[in-house]
Amino acid sequence: MTLKLFRCRICGDPYLGSEAPSFCPFCGAPQRYMVPAADYVDRNEVPNLSAVSRANLEKALDLEVKNAAFYMCASNCAPDPLAKAMFKALWRTEAEHASLICKLLKVPKPEIKPDVKACLKDPKANFEAAHGKEERAVAFYAQAAKEAAEDRVKEVFAALTEVETYHIALSAANK
Ligand SMILES: [Fe+2]
Ligand SMILES: [Fe+2]
Repeated sequence: MTLKLFRCRICGDPYLGSEAPSFCPFCGAPQRYMVPAADYVDRNEVPNLSAVSRANLEKALDLEVKNAAFYMCASNCAPDPLAKAMFKALWRTEAEHASLICKLLKVPKPEIKPDVKACLKDPKANFEAAHGKEERAVAFYAQAAKEAAEDRVKEVFAALTEVETYHIALSAANK
């Protein structure tokens, strides 16, 4: 087998593998967003963001940072290695979403610290809480995708809607 270099059209991160992964290992975007690295075009330079898109991206950044901080604490305090790993994967994904939104907004990436207030300590209770968070995120991102006048912003919100929808199924299976 030979390694090929792919990039994700949503988060831009590079991936080495024999074929494109079923989901981006960084932001969770489905396979159709993975392209051979030579075909990747950086589209994060969006001139003149509309006021609506800017406000939606700012709200999305706040949401992603909060969710990443929640999952980080959920991972830290999970009593078993399986729940710890699951919350870690989710925290990494949400932190990647925050980084992507920062690129579009041209703002520095905020530091993410475990949110000990929102975290409920018990994995089942945390999956229950996560379910509500992901449902609110999906509703908001779907609306933000509709409202975006810029192709790239529309694409990012549509991809985030899809990724968080997969997270809802995951939390439903674990709560
Ligand atoms: Fe990605
Ligand atoms: Fe996210």
